[in-house]
Amino acid sequence: MTKAIPGDSGSPLVDTATLVDRAFTQAEYAINITDREGKLIKVNKAYIELYKFRSEADVLGKTQRVIRSPHTPDSVYKDMWSTIFRGETWRGNLTNLAQDGSEVFVNLTITPVRENGEIIGFMGFSLDRAQQVLLERELFHANKLVVLATMGAGLAHELNNPLASILLDAEYLKDIFAEPGKAIEWETAASAATSVIQGVERMKKVLEHLLMYSRKEGGQKFSTLTMAQLIEDSFLFLERQLRSRNITIDVEVDGEIFLSGNRTQLESVVHNLLSNSRDAFEGHKGDKRIQIRARKEQPGLVTLEFSDNAGGIPATILDRIFEPFFTTKKEREGTGLGLAISQKIIAEHGGTIEVESKDGSTTFRIMLPALEAPSPDEDMMED
Ligand SMILES: Nc1ncnc2c1ncn2[C@@H]1O[C@H](COP(=O)(O)OP(=O)(O)OP(=O)(O)O)[C@@H](O)[C@H]1O
Ligand SMILES: [Mg+2]
Repeated sequence: MTKAIPGDSGSPLVDTATLVDRAFTQAEYAINITDREGKLIKVNKAYIELYKFRSEADVLGKTQRVIRSPHTPDSVYKDMWSTIFRGETWRGNLTNLAQDGSEVFVNLTITPVRENGEIIGFMGFSLDRAQQVLLERELFHANKLVVLATMGAGLAHELNNPLASILLDAEYLKDIFAEPGKAIEWETAASAATSVIQGVERMKKVLEHLLMYSRKEGGQKFSTLTMAQLIEDSFLFLERQLRSRNITIDVEVDGEIFLSGNRTQLESVVHNLLSNSRDAFEGHKGDKRIQIRARKEQPGLVTLEFSDNAGGIPATILDRIFEPFFTTKKEREGTGLGLAISQKIIAEHGGTIEVESKDGSTTFRIMLPALEAPSPDEDMMED
């Protein structure tokens, strides 16, 4: 029997079930329905096309794992499953894999489906973010160029200082070897040679970082990082600038903290925060202090805090500082992208960043998923 669909014409073209089925199949959003275990029960045309399956039969019966990408950290999936099993809706941006191995960037919403109050399955809506991701990558690259430009001044110092001391040590070594028969103070000579090696190693590190940072595909790649190393490396280009302005830095990292992340991106977050504090200290009299604290508040979660006593951020602009292009700096000094991009990077790592400013001090608090132990399948050294 054909049921009537309310409408102007009064003459139904199809029955309700057919209409519902066609609407599901033809929806713009990629829709998938899974059972409680995540096994795919039904998908629509947009889903098949988005993930480049051949047909619906190609998908059904498989689990959601068939579209899982190694670029999405485990913590995101854990968070997703625990949220939907609690009966709540999960929303977030994800990188998945299509059947031809290409990456698919989606904004995903998953809602539990219930029967008599009990969860019987899940329904996912994916919105393709390909265009947006392209724009965001360009924006991230543009910000890297800005950071690189500000690094320029620091870079000259970073290379000049070790070079000057290498030259002095090398000249000293040349002098003592230039006179055959001259008594050599071996200890002093050895320490000069060691200092040449250390100077060269430092310059090598600075250059490696610069190269890594300026590579356009600085990578979307995640690797296992330690918090202490991340902070130390982020200082490379700023340490001297901060020191020459008499800014004291206290770093306190509780124990060994491992996290999965993109080294270049996370370093740029730390760099942005430190350079914001550096700028805030401009014209500041008295004690200048930046405190960095990293600790694990609870298993699987690390808190990283940056505090400075540079005068604070006026309450009138506090809720605007994460907006793209919001800056209080002169045109040539700030783009206003630093915090907007930092927030995006942290979100892509499954974390949050917030600010608090009172009594002349500002604290940025970053919360990130932490690994319990270094994951064996990831390379610690590689970006
Ligand atoms: N530690 C801080 N103390 C005082 N003000 C701050 C601090 N951090 C950020 N701000 C304020 O937030 C604004 C936005 O910061 P954001 O890093 O996004 O951009 P920017 O530093 O102005 O430019 P860019 O990062 O591109 O150099 C700054 O212009 C400044 O007014
Ligand atoms: Mg900034």
